[in-house]
Amino acid sequence: MTPTKIDGASTSNAQVRARWRIDADVDPESVPLAELNPGNGDWFEQDKELRLFQRLRREAPVHYTADSQFGAYWSLSNFADVKFVDTHQDLFSSDIMNGGIRLGGQPLNEPPPDLFHLPMFIMQDQPVHDEQRKVVAPMFTAPRLAGMGDLIRQRAGAILDALPRGESFNWVREVSVELTGQMLATLFDVPQEDRHKLIHWSDTVERIGDPDYFETPAEGFAEIWQCFEYFNIFWQERQAASTPGEDLISFLAQGEATKNMAPNEFLGNVLLLIVGGNDTTRNSITAGVQALNQFPEQYEKLKGNTGLIPNMVSEIVRWQSPVAHMCRTAMEDVEIGGKTIRKWDKVAIWYLSGNRDSAHFQDADRLMIDRPNVRQHLSFGYGIHRCLGNRLAEMQLTILWEEIMRRFSHVEVVGDAKYLNSSFIRGITDLPVRVHDL
Ligand code: HEM
Repeated sequence: MTPTKIDGASTSNAQVRARWRIDADVDPESVPLAELNPGNGDWFEQDKELRLFQRLRREAPVHYTADSQFGAYWSLSNFADVKFVDTHQDLFSSDIMNGGIRLGGQPLNEPPPDLFHLPMFIMQDQPVHDEQRKVVAPMFTAPRLAGMGDLIRQRAGAILDALPRGESFNWVREVSVELTGQMLATLFDVPQEDRHKLIHWSDTVERIGDPDYFETPAEGFAEIWQCFEYFNIFWQERQAASTPGEDLISFLAQGEATKNMAPNEFLGNVLLLIVGGNDTTRNSITAGVQALNQFPEQYEKLKGNTGLIPNMVSEIVRWQSPVAHMCRTAMEDVEIGGKTIRKWDKVAIWYLSGNRDSAHFQDADRLMIDRPNVRQHLSFGYGIHRCLGNRLAEMQLTILWEEIMRRFSHVEVVGDAKYLNSSFIRGITDLPVRVHDL
């Protein structure tokens, strides 16, 4: 396989960031409603997004942003509306040719001849979506996951045992990134020492527009194509293998619906699986520590009953909502909440906000590790695109918390968290902690 050529995308990231900059002292309550742009990553970096969505749920649960760095888009912030859109794929498309799942995606007449066009099955409608999803789904069946439990436990234990004692460190780097990185290398069956490359490419996807990392999106995409070079070698080997392997690349290389993918589509699907498995689980691991420190009575409840861990894991995933939103494109005029969303309009469905909707979750801003209806949370989506890795993520989080509780009386947050500048992945980049042995 050889990729097509890079073309365009030379807009300066710094100029775009500066043009839409939100100053640190701006309160989301004080911005005129018509000018609110919830998709601006600055809200998230400044830790103000929850207040912004509180306001939208109260004043404009179906909200229209006319002008932004992503163009015009709707924001849905109630639980019921988000779930409605996510489960009506006939009305709301995810297809990359219709604009895809990211803010700023545009409908296309034909695939552009450049490297920025990366189709993946999360950005396909039926039937292509279903055919490609089926190829990798065997990786996530209950028996296969059960077979991974011991390995995850042993790794979690080793990571926790190696943590520094008596000093503070960044939980994100030492624990969250390590455990998820090791898992990724296993799913793709690549050498463990290469896990940092996978983490790097996953991070790069969210940094393509970040002036701190790349001057232009083109530079970011060039970096991402190194991921193609890396996986192409495994792809060739595994396509030629007489005994099919049992890893994600082998499934893609041998699967009827995926074995003839063009390079852009191969890279797109690999990135989907890397980002899907990385940022999301990583931020849930970090958020758990943060949330239990913020709600000490819940930490005490957990110490009294570690049998609550599976339910707590769901509550942490609700509370964090690591994928803050997905986008869809309306395929016909649809009325929601008294507003008419027109055909071809772009719609952001805010999982983060639906998960904090008190009409569905009682006292939704509180962490309640024994919350009864928590499994209805929106964080894994609903409908045909519902997260394929949700059980793997829950298993990793459950085992990690069991091992944490065996070792530590307290994982104490000792400094301020830092947050990612992204409204797509709701991420924590730094969480200074100190661990206290039992
Ligand atoms: C706490 C962890 C995770 C969260 C919060 C999460 C969240 C999501 C969300 C919101 C979607 C889109 C749902 C929709 O559009 O309706 C999704 C899809 C997906 N996720 Fe996850 N995810 C997590 C872990 C994982 C893991 C560990 C993997 C695998 C390695 C994974 C792989 C995928 C894939 C392949 C899709 C696309 C499914 C499709 O389009 O059919 N995710 N995830």
